[in-house]
Amino acid sequence: MWKKLNQSLIRERVFGALRKNRGFRGENVLGLPASFLDTKVFSPDHTLLDNAPFLSTMVENPNHIGCHTLSQSETYFEGTHALERETIRICAEEIMGAQENSCDGYVASGGTEANLQAIWIYRNYFVQEFGAKHEEIAIIGSEHTHYSTAKAANLLHLRWSPVETSEETMAITQEGVEKTIGYLEKQGVRYFIVVANMMTTMFGSVDNIDMYLDALLKRNLSFKIHVDAAFGGFYFPFSSNDMQLTFNNPHVNSITMDAHKMAQAPYGTGIFLIRKGWMQYAHTKEASYVEGQDSTLIGSRSGANAIAVWMILMTYGKFGWHEKIFVLQKRTDWLCDKLNDREIRYCRHPKSNIVTIDSSHLSREVAATFGLVPDNYNAPKWYKIVVMEHVEIEHLERFLENAFCEVALP
Ligand SMILES: Cc1ncc(COP(=O)(O)O)c(C=O)c1O
Repeated sequence: MWKKLNQSLIRERVFGALRKNRGFRGENVLGLPASFLDTKVFSPDHTLLDNAPFLSTMVENPNHIGCHTLSQSETYFEGTHALERETIRICAEEIMGAQENSCDGYVASGGTEANLQAIWIYRNYFVQEFGAKHEEIAIIGSEHTHYSTAKAANLLHLRWSPVETSEETMAITQEGVEKTIGYLEKQGVRYFIVVANMMTTMFGSVDNIDMYLDALLKRNLSFKIHVDAAFGGFYFPFSSNDMQLTFNNPHVNSITMDAHKMAQAPYGTGIFLIRKGWMQYAHTKEASYVEGQDSTLIGSRSGANAIAVWMILMTYGKFGWHEKIFVLQKRTDWLCDKLNDREIRYCRHPKSNIVTIDSSHLSREVAATFGLVPDNYNAPKWYKIVVMEHVEIEHLERFLENAFCEVALP
């Protein structure tokens, strides 16, 4: 169960985990090419650190290299690795509906790395198991899919083919899917890596995975489905009962979630989740000096990031997280009501906190003043507002009062 813990229990658990690490202050750690943070710069001041489990972990500097949900991994930092395992379990099972012990995963540097990790795994799977040539493998996803997918295609020598979306919902359409897959099939593509979106970067749109399944299954094509929930993973499962993009759906094989977006964790806290049995396709046996070798893209990474996510999840618990998202949903509904009153054209999935406004209603000055983000800096067609914790009704009120009037802003 994902239960809320009080702050003193959280502190106890983290300091307990640090004590279980052999760490750099242990007596016999002669061979690691790293140490605790430089004490001349990062003072290990007890008055500051004794009540600060995250900062203490930063200073102790545990390395979380590798994937700790697999049977074998590094033993030096076992204590904090165990908390990372708990984090992965909560994300996979309590948020994304996986069966007990059915998933592996790790805290990646971000959504980009987690998406790359998934696509890398599936490319290797198609090559190793079916002898696929790179030109026979394509990545497909909505045209609003995050650019990390195009990056993955470039790095991994694969084809990236965006799928057309509906002008209304900004999510994929059946016609778009049929068109892309039909075209690729004619071009000799046999293997498909599908990136389905649980809230796109710009529009918060959510793809209907059945559209991909219909098109791929009826053609008898090989495919694997990865869900990009980098933004939506800590939002959509709490605002909606729709579980089609979670591990509840047997076709979903892996998921990206980012704690450094909706979960307000420090940067460097992407979450990669995948069903058991698949990390082997990213296993680098040449990583011989790492116990258990390495099945991740990143290599060395800070254990403090995993601790930060664990602390956040424990501070709220499942019900606390529902409440947090409930408030943001209410604020977003409020904003949309006001935009409706003013007859402003915008796009919003009803279960999302991203509101994307048609640029014809806004000047560049207004967008700059209120920190709105355009879809394209050179030729903006849309500007988005993301209703995060710091975006309060008072900010939205000020925006509404000033954004749509003719009078220039002070
Ligand atoms: C849907 C989605 N996927 C992936 C990413 C990439 O995440 P990161 O910037 O953490 O690498 C983002 C970033 O905005 C995103 O919105």
